[in-house]
Amino acid sequence: MKEKILITGANGQLGTVLTDSLRQVFGLENVVATDLHPPTAQTGMYATLDATDTKALRTLIKKFGITQIYHMAAILSAKGEQDPVRTWDLNMSSFFCVLEAARTMGIQKVFFPSSIAVFGKNAPKTNTSQFTYCDAGTAYGISKIAGENWALYYYEKYGLDVRSVRYPGVISHQSLPGGGTTDYAVAIFHHALQKQSYDCYLKKDTILPMIYIDDAIRATLELMDAPANQLRIRTSYNLAGMSFSPEALAAEIKNHLPDFQINYTPDSRQKIADQWPQSIDDQYAREDWGWKSKFDLANMVSAMVNHLKPLQQLNTQL
Ligand code: SER
Repeated sequence: MKEKILITGANGQLGTVLTDSLRQVFGLENVVATDLHPPTAQTGMYATLDATDTKALRTLIKKFGITQIYHMAAILSAKGEQDPVRTWDLNMSSFFCVLEAARTMGIQKVFFPSSIAVFGKNAPKTNTSQFTYCDAGTAYGISKIAGENWALYYYEKYGLDVRSVRYPGVISHQSLPGGGTTDYAVAIFHHALQKQSYDCYLKKDTILPMIYIDDAIRATLELMDAPANQLRIRTSYNLAGMSFSPEALAAEIKNHLPDFQINYTPDSRQKIADQWPQSIDDQYAREDWGWKSKFDLANMVSAMVNHLKPLQQLNTQL
């Protein structure tokens, strides 16, 4: 069957790179990127879409004969705390639009990104397992754990093939994150290259689970490609990449940029980070669909510096 894919939140940190990857796999003519605003670089089919607008979503599904939806639109953890009710509202109502459209319009597969933010203070901090306390302490995390349970509900009640991973903090060179607690791990590279210094909003020893963009995208594509009968988790799969603290990341960056200096001025994001695990047990992903991360801290830092350095040199020349 010829797949026709629609992505919501296609301009976001993950959406941008996922859109490009899906276009490479499925062909430019089979992937429709959607977001509230047009992308800065137009490389394929695009439609403006407010993901909470059911009617507009349904019109696009019909118009393009969509068979799969990747629902990437969401308000992240730190930004979400500024307006918790709006965060809940947007994250949930957009997901319901997608689930209901998918159920009633014959969509074959839905991808729903969940997060390490589903875990709260009672979950074990290290090697956090698939099945443990999900006492999420942010509006974003509460919306993600609710979304996971709705994914399971639609699968069990209607047979809708919804698949999901709990992403760690995603580190990418192509796109900037917006409004997350783990964003420092991307911002630090831009500051290191531009100003040789960074003021970190987390304490130096705050270890969090992270993943490099190539691994995050590969995990998504591998999960979506796996045979349905191999998938035991219909809420969301734990997914591990690497774990590190700001201090460890800064030390690794210093290996490439010896003049780099870091300061620590913790803000309200520290409280969010303190609720989250330090490392993740992703046994089910490994067993069910053969997941294995490729990037550790050293590889990731090399890749980030190698990608961003030439851009920085270009900017200073201009
Ligand atoms: N990276 C996200 C955040 O920090 C977690 O899913 O909000």
